[in-house]
Amino acid sequence: MTNSTTPSLEIFLQQQDAPEHLKALLIQVAKSCDSISRAVNRGALDNILGSAGSGNIQGETQQKLDIITNNILLDDNVSTGLLAGMASEEMDTIYPIPDNLPKGKYLLLFDPLDGSSNIDVNVSIGTIFSILETNQSDAVTESDFLKSGNLQVAAGYVLYGPQTILTFTIGSGVHMFTLDPSSRSFILTKSNVLIPEDTKEFSINMSNMRHWDTPVKRYVDECLSGKEGPRNKDFNMRWIASMVADVHRVLTRGGIFMYPWDKRDPNKPGKLRLLYEANPMSFLVEQAGGLSINGTKPILTIQPSHLHERVSVILGSKNEVALVQEYHLKS
Ligand code: AHG
Ligand code: MN
Ligand code: MN
Repeated sequence: MTNSTTPSLEIFLQQQDAPEHLKALLIQVAKSCDSISRAVNRGALDNILGSAGSGNIQGETQQKLDIITNNILLDDNVSTGLLAGMASEEMDTIYPIPDNLPKGKYLLLFDPLDGSSNIDVNVSIGTIFSILETNQSDAVTESDFLKSGNLQVAAGYVLYGPQTILTFTIGSGVHMFTLDPSSRSFILTKSNVLIPEDTKEFSINMSNMRHWDTPVKRYVDECLSGKEGPRNKDFNMRWIASMVADVHRVLTRGGIFMYPWDKRDPNKPGKLRLLYEANPMSFLVEQAGGLSINGTKPILTIQPSHLHERVSVILGSKNEVALVQEYHLKS
């Protein structure tokens, strides 16, 4: 049951000290994600599962829903007058707001649908977004988007799972809202989320073990050796293969999530993308008292050099991430 002590997103934002245009943008993104949630819910009923038969700039096969969700976010946000431009995992280049439309000072970056491999098997997927500010509202170029994560003014995700949950930060803590399916309002269900500093749960795709670098291998080996090993405790493992769902679990009950650099393709810094996956998730995790690093340094301090740049990601409970960092710095 919701009541007057559990405000809607709109009421919650009215109480926050943030620019009005930023609040309006968050409300618009939430509306788009409500539409995405409806589309995801209908799935095969609307014949929107399966491959679209195309690929994105990163060489990945696009699912029909990757394209549908990208279009929902573009169409809903193009004429709000709040944005100077958008960028997405599913578009090769940035999308400046066309000349004939009103513009604002924000840049919206997104992974419209995260967890592509889970779409057809009805496992949780999500949308990830990052918001930057620019002083250049006309004729934005890619370089306007290449800002380190520390400069994000807001970031968040919407998880399409058993419940649809919006989680975001505007730099003053992390707050979670559950979509009420009858009123279609996002209702505050958890505020000032804090990640426990310690954990007994790690999250990594174990099938890549033979390709890992020594510090990651050492850390996971020590977790696996449990009570008898140097960590003196048994660990549990989870891997949903949707970053949104895995990070949501870390924010909810702690844990460490890793998609590290590995030797499969040594020139690739990692699998996950810096600007619309790692940066927004790192902002959330740090706002919730956790850490997020690429191995040796905080992800939020990395200066991006291109739009679809990839990065090694290790994030979650503070003491565990600090240990993995120590192993990297020593090696
Ligand atoms: P996307 O579907 O947006 O391309 O992202 C998928 C990512 C991420 O969500 C997840 O953590 C990871 O890929 C899973 O990778 P594996 O299939 O290698 O486990
Ligand atoms: Mn993704
Ligand atoms: Mn995606």
